[in-house]
This record gives sequence, C-alpha cells and structure tokens, in this order.
Amino acid sequence: MDFTEETATDAVVASFAGTADPRLREILDSLVRHLHGFVREVAPSFAEWERAVEFLAATGRMCDGRRQEFILLSDVLGVTMLVDAVNHRAAPAATESTVLGPFHVVESPPRRLGDTIDLVGGGEPCVVTGRVVSLDGTPLPGARVDVWQADDHGFYDVQQPGTQPEGNGRGLFTCDPEGRFWFRTVTPSPYPIPTDGPVGALLAATGRHPYRPAHIHFIVAADAHLPLTTHLFVAGSPYLDSDAVFAVKQPLVQDFALVDDPAKAASYGVDPPFRHTHFEIVLQPVP
Ligand code: BEZ
Ligand code: FE
Repeated sequence: MDFTEETATDAVVASFAGTADPRLREILDSLVRHLHGFVREVAPSFAEWERAVEFLAATGRMCDGRRQEFILLSDVLGVTMLVDAVNHRAAPAATESTVLGPFHVVESPPRRLGDTIDLVGGGEPCVVTGRVVSLDGTPLPGARVDVWQADDHGFYDVQQPGTQPEGNGRGLFTCDPEGRFWFRTVTPSPYPIPTDGPVGALLAATGRHPYRPAHIHFIVAADAHLPLTTHLFVAGSPYLDSDAVFAVKQPLVQDFALVDDPAKAASYGVDPPFRHTHFEIVLQPVP
C-alpha cells in the first residue's frame, strides 16, 4: 500500500508491531498517532518543519552536565508539571509536589537545626520552621529535609561561581524527635529562568515573561514514605499567577509574616524585623 496522508499513521504504527516490550510499543503507537495528528492539523511548510528541527537541535546543543535545555523546554510547555500531575493522582491529603528545576545539586551540605543557609548576609532575614508528618498525622523523626533557594537577588550559587560561596542557599537538615525542622535564610526573590538559549527565544517570540515567583525548594524523605519534591511559595510574590513553568499550587503558597519582636528574633538568632514561615509537610506512606 502506498504511503499517503490517509495510510501514513497505520503504516508507521504497524512497523513497530514487533516491539518486544509492550510498554514501549504502547508509547510509540501513541506518539506516532499524536505526532501525525499534529502534522495533519498544522500542515507545516518545509521551511517551518526545518525551523522546528533546527530549534530542537539548538535545544540539544545547549545541554551538557550543567545545563538541561530540554527539561527547561518541557517546563515552559507545562509538560513537566503534567507528568507530575499524572504521577500524583492519589492521596490528596499529602503535601503537593512540584517541579525539581535545574538548580538542585546532588548533595546539599548537611547542617544542624537552626543553622543558616545564607552564607553571605545582606538580605531580609527569614526563619523557616516546619514539621514532617505522615498522612495520619504521626510525626516523622529523622526525616531528611533538603532545601535550596536563590539569594535575595534571584541567583543560585551555581549560577555565580566565584561570587557566591558554594553551598550558599542550600542545606540538608534532619528532623528532631518530634519531626520538626527549622533554619535561617534570606527571604527569596522572584527570578527569571535561563533565557540565553532557544527556550528564552521561544518565550520572547511569544511575548511570555521568564519569571518565577519567589520560592524555596524542598526534597523531603523519610523511611517507609514516598519522597516529596516541592516548593514553598511566598504569598504576595509577583508572578504567582503566571509562573513561567506553571509550578504554583495554592496549598504551597504560604504567608512569610513580618515579625518585629526582639525576643522572638533573639530566640531564632536573627535581627528584627524578620520574616517567619511555617511549613507542615505531609508525606504519603509507601503503598
Ligand atoms: C527553579 O525553580 O529552580 C526552576 C524550575 C524550572 C525551571 C527553571 C528553574
Ligand atoms: Fe528555583
């Protein structure tokens, strides 16, 4: 049978009929059907198709051990958050997950409860307290809380080697016997995702801004529980309604209250006034 607009999809799907792995076959079948449907709908010219191929090639050229432009593309297209959503359909009472982002380093420096993750100073002092509990409310002593954030100018340490000390804005904390954790930091700022590659060009061509609302990243792990990758967003931050990577979920937006009480400030080892936020984290037991 000739390969025509009408027969194309069945022909390509049939070419994968011998795929031994049934899941791979299912994925390829669906991929071919959706890609062909897209081409039929859009009917790209050859020039547009070449432009698309060059865009993807440029995206690939921008990827190495330190930069992952394809994940960024997935992020700005909402694909990363959609993958997250289809993988977290159960346990609505557990704390919501959100994107990992490109600025996590494999090992945050271990720190003691109450330590500061701000190795530079200068920004607005901020105290983060929290508790890690299981779905039934039982505290999870020894839970590991890995945090990382941009500084008050919106840059991660890895974006400014030589300017910021390594490990600035990062810490790995272990919860106390009541499942509590607390640390000092600076209030985070909104910042733009990297715009010097094809994803930045895509945002510019479509009139989209590259900003993310102010947030602190968390990966929380405890024995016999599913690990959680999430953020704490600063209530009132610009861009909460237009996050460039669609990662805001309302329960993760928390008040960072301004506290001007010298006794409270002294108890946390910060100067007043400071911001205080509390994050109650609910983990889902391994099914
Ligand atoms: C971040 O919050 O670190 C981030 C997430 C997705 C894309 C770029 C940055
Ligand atoms: Fe971030």
